[in-house]
Amino acid sequence: MTQVSPSLLSADFRCLERDIDMLNASQASMLHLDVMDGVFVPNISFGFPIIKAIASVAKKPLDVHLMIVDPSRYVSQVRDCGADIMNVHYEACTHLDRVIQAIHQAGMKAAVTVNPATPVELLRDIIGELDMALIMSVNPGFGGQMFIPRAIDRTRRLRRMIDDAGASTLIEVDGGVNLETGRQLVEAGADILVAGNFVFSSPDPKATIAALAAL
Ligand code: DX5
Ligand code: ZN
Repeated sequence: MTQVSPSLLSADFRCLERDIDMLNASQASMLHLDVMDGVFVPNISFGFPIIKAIASVAKKPLDVHLMIVDPSRYVSQVRDCGADIMNVHYEACTHLDRVIQAIHQAGMKAAVTVNPATPVELLRDIIGELDMALIMSVNPGFGGQMFIPRAIDRTRRLRRMIDDAGASTLIEVDGGVNLETGRQLVEAGADILVAGNFVFSSPDPKATIAALAAL
């Protein structure tokens, strides 16, 4: 069974509670929240007050993907908002080991994301410390972009690296996921699929989540 982390970036923000209720009743394993600062990525999404509001309705773990510069500044705020998983970008952290320790000390799971041009091998020395590693299969910043096929081989390489290290790190992939790309990613070793546009633009989002979970 594949874990599905629907991205609320594609939800209807006028009816957020309705969409979260749908996710609560779905086979989603967690909820993916995309925080963008307009500096690390060329877009701005939402921040702490919205995460807090989502946490008050969500019955599943919150997977908070921070597309912001120097996320180490916000570990305690992210925790206080109700996040379960704090996901930081490799490219945004000068002292990644320290950030991961701080996330764990704050009582959250630690995840590190790599952009499409960042070799997954750069996570090798730290892989045993990570609860999750996220491969971006689009350039971060927007929902509904085209899947970058290279992500499949990157997933395969990361899978091998994790298995060789005897680590239990879960592999998450984010961007352009649908049933076809999702199937290839699961075959390559992905554990968790993030999906925004494909879920929320489908006529029956709950059934779409179930179809992804069955991959
Ligand atoms: C992109 C975000 C993704 C995005 C995925 O910067 O990190 O989580 O919402 O959206 P889709 O599934 O529409 O590509
Ligand atoms: Zn994301």
